Amino acid sequence: MQRRQLMQWGAALALSPWLVRSASAGSARAAMAPAVPPDAGALGLVGSLPLPEPKRLPLERRDGALHGCLSASAVSLPLLPGRPATTFWAYNDSVPGPAIELFEGESLSLRFDNRLPQPTTVHWHGLPIPADQDGNPHDPVLPGQSRDYRFSLPPDSAGTYWYHPHPHGHTAEQVYRGLAGVFVVRSRNDPLAHLAERWLVLSDLKLDSDGKIAANSEADAMDGREGQFVLVNGAWRPRLALGRGERQRWRIWNATSARVLKLALPAHEVWLVGTDGGLIEKPRRVESLLLPPGARAELAVTGRFDAGKPAGLLALPYARGKMMGPEQDEALLLLDIEAGAAVETAALPSRLRTMAPLPKPALRRSVVFSEDMSNPAAMFLINGRTFDMDRMDFTGKVGVVEEWEIDNRADMDHPFHLHGTQFQVTERHDGRGWRREPYLAWRDVVNVPPGQKARLRFRQDLPGPRMFHCHILEHEDAGMMGTLDVRA
Ligand code: C2O
Ligand code: CU
Ligand code: CU
Repeated sequence: MQRRQLMQWGAALALSPWLVRSASAGSARAAMAPAVPPDAGALGLVGSLPLPEPKRLPLERRDGALHGCLSASAVSLPLLPGRPATTFWAYNDSVPGPAIELFEGESLSLRFDNRLPQPTTVHWHGLPIPADQDGNPHDPVLPGQSRDYRFSLPPDSAGTYWYHPHPHGHTAEQVYRGLAGVFVVRSRNDPLAHLAERWLVLSDLKLDSDGKIAANSEADAMDGREGQFVLVNGAWRPRLALGRGERQRWRIWNATSARVLKLALPAHEVWLVGTDGGLIEKPRRVESLLLPPGARAELAVTGRFDAGKPAGLLALPYARGKMMGPEQDEALLLLDIEAGAAVETAALPSRLRTMAPLPKPALRRSVVFSEDMSNPAAMFLINGRTFDMDRMDFTGKVGVVEEWEIDNRADMDHPFHLHGTQFQVTERHDGRGWRREPYLAWRDVVNVPPGQKARLRFRQDLPGPRMFHCHILEHEDAGMMGTLDVRA
């Protein structure tokens, strides 16, 4: 199928930066008359329009907090002139949603309006904030209703987060219709503040033959949805300028429903400098980086442009045990990289932060992922059960270190995610034996392939119910989720 549809829609998607431009113009109507008409080159299959920058959420400082407004509503955006517009669901009419950027220690107060035909919530993925502000499925905002989300960002929380809906049973649909935005927490002592920063929000777009956002097929429900297009900041295969020898700091979000992205920049020099919850201790040279759905990374990228190697950002082939759809068996070009003038950049600091390993756990638990294909009502299971909003699966305690073993006895990769805190993976079992994690990192998503296990430690510093689930959003909606009740 894919190749034909790709040809058909390739032209359209080269125009998708319109999404971002129109959004920054402030209204859906502005999208009808983009300020910059596409040039002929932009109509080709090779997208290559300049990488759009995510729009920022306007915030106003008042009474010691930053205040802003967020709404979720339908918005029509034309992907191709002369064809009907495509209806997205978007935060503040923008795909991706407006980026939120704060410093550690700051407080945020957001008025949220739900103008969707479904209940929704706003979940602040990865942030250590109070449970009743975290958009749990237990706290829906009904159609036509509003609520305030208020929280402060604790010390040492600098990192790369995002926000997305989390209503019971409709998370996948709301995200694939366009609802997701990024959230960056900055430190005032940032050892990489001198590097130029680029933000890359990777999302998936699946269109039907009318150019509408396709509903999930049976295969999507089973495997997790993948579209014809992986977008970067709402654009298909845009182009980023990188000087020869120039070092940039990239923050990358995997905001797709289900793709495990094995990212590579074959021509360039790449150092991993941060994970979901901020910087790691020292830069690590990497050849590729596995970014499961929901996860983020920070890279220091130096432009090298080795002849004979592709200059762009690639997603290398990766098989994730899909039941129905084909696996990704070729490299996908996500982003074109264009060589700029030679620039000399300062060296990378050899230490980025100090991080202590979490101490020996007071409590150990096991989380077993399994699949039961014979039971359509309960196919994706955690410890043999599907999600029940009224059940607390585990009871924990504020300040107590726990160790969880995530054991994937299913046939597909399942990326594990926990709310409300960051964890440290301590070891992984690849099916043959345990291997110590080679470096300390704060994460909130860890991918667990079939037959493998991961051990992780964390501490919850705030009380309340916290969700844990597979971050393939279709699996989460199908019930591969549980609740940890953290008691004061
Ligand atoms: Cu990114 Cu429970 O979510
Ligand atoms: Cu989350
Ligand atoms: Cu899963």
